Amino acid sequence: METESGKKREKFSSGLAVFFATLGSAVGLGNIWKFPYLTGQFGGGAFLLIYFLCILFVGLPVMLGEFYIGRKTRKNAIGALAELKPGTGWKHIGTMGVMSSYLIMFFYSSVAGWVYFYLFKAIRGDFAAITMETAKAQFGNVIMGPVSPIIWQAIVLIVVSAILAMGVQKGIEKITKTLMPLLFVLILICDVRALTLPGAWNGVDFLFHVDFGKLSAAAILTALGLAFFKLSLGMGTMITYGSYFTEDNNLFGTAVRVALSDTMVSLLAGIAIFPTVFSFGMEPGAGPGLLFMTIPLVFSKMPLGNLLLIAFFFLTSIAATTAMLSLVEVPIAYFTEERKVSRPKAALLNGLFIAIVGVLATLSVDKASLLGNITIFGKGFFDLFDYLSSNILLPLGGLLIAIFMGYVVKQDDVRRELSNHGALKINSLISVYFFIVRYVTPALLIVVFLNSIGIIK
Ligand code: PFF
Repeated sequence: METESGKKREKFSSGLAVFFATLGSAVGLGNIWKFPYLTGQFGGGAFLLIYFLCILFVGLPVMLGEFYIGRKTRKNAIGALAELKPGTGWKHIGTMGVMSSYLIMFFYSSVAGWVYFYLFKAIRGDFAAITMETAKAQFGNVIMGPVSPIIWQAIVLIVVSAILAMGVQKGIEKITKTLMPLLFVLILICDVRALTLPGAWNGVDFLFHVDFGKLSAAAILTALGLAFFKLSLGMGTMITYGSYFTEDNNLFGTAVRVALSDTMVSLLAGIAIFPTVFSFGMEPGAGPGLLFMTIPLVFSKMPLGNLLLIAFFFLTSIAATTAMLSLVEVPIAYFTEERKVSRPKAALLNGLFIAIVGVLATLSVDKASLLGNITIFGKGFFDLFDYLSSNILLPLGGLLIAIFMGYVVKQDDVRRELSNHGALKINSLISVYFFIVRYVTPALLIVVFLNSIGIIK
């Protein structure tokens, strides 16, 4: 396909590349860092169950909608919606998406900086004689800085911008295809070790034991927000990636495979972390530091532990990096296509902008941080960026996409695109899809929203 400037618009080269790039977007700190600590804070199994329902009835339909919008138009998030409904406000789903991308990147690049720093510390051998107390102390030192976390955040952004500057196939595709399979193997090794710790099954029980008494409205809104965050939905990321999909890709198949694999990685991360938490008598609701305090402890107790620790933080860095590629690709695709900025320049400017504002997140992680006492709506910058994106903008974007798919676009058009112009015989599946995206997805989203702002109980 030719763009206006006469250059061929890039695409992923094969179905496998589509799968790994999309999975690379979904799998990230969300699985390894956020999912375990939120499941811990909201009480385990019951939270997990609500999360699965959110993936099935909200996540998958929105993901499919985004794939449709992207592949049909082959444009960035704003351009795609503007093409489908010219002269209307629908394109502002894309504008909100660009905003969400920045909000998430401000704190995500900060946490990714801790991961890179932990990798460096593992290589240096800092965890050799680790105990529960020193694990906590080391984490405290890493996040409080104040200079080192800012430097690591900058390093993260340099890596992300450099890969994005190389383009879709040579950058995003190459990195995700090489490194996603490795991540999987490493988590499995981690699991085996965690499950053979004394008392490990208490952790497994915590993760899978369903106790509805622990559920609250906040837990449900959080599970919903997590489903969006996890699958990179509600902000045009999957519109942007969908616009690079191959012509013959089965969009249903890709959505289901990505959602399943992503959930599996989250569960495997949970299985690595909770047995350790219980085995060492730590607090499952410990919050954002959970991953950083448990993983060095698990590995320190096994043969070749330090080597595996290095590998684990290396692969967590990869997961975080491939997710960030997709986050920043949303504004980059917009700037290169709609504003005609060159790709390297767009990568550089976006990286710089995120680095500058992202410092606010890095310096407000903890109450004791340099900017920790500045609060807006009762939250510090770090928490505010996270809350605004995960709990408000992404679900709102998702609601608008569901409405757009269910009520605004022509159903025949969607049928044609999802069935690859009739090549796939999935008519009845598409009818089920329309039912869910018209009635179930918006209803669930609206109820959870109204509930969270206290309008219905
Ligand atoms: N899905 C990523 C994760 O779970 O870490 C985070 C993310 C990536 C969110 C891309 C949103 C996005 F557009």
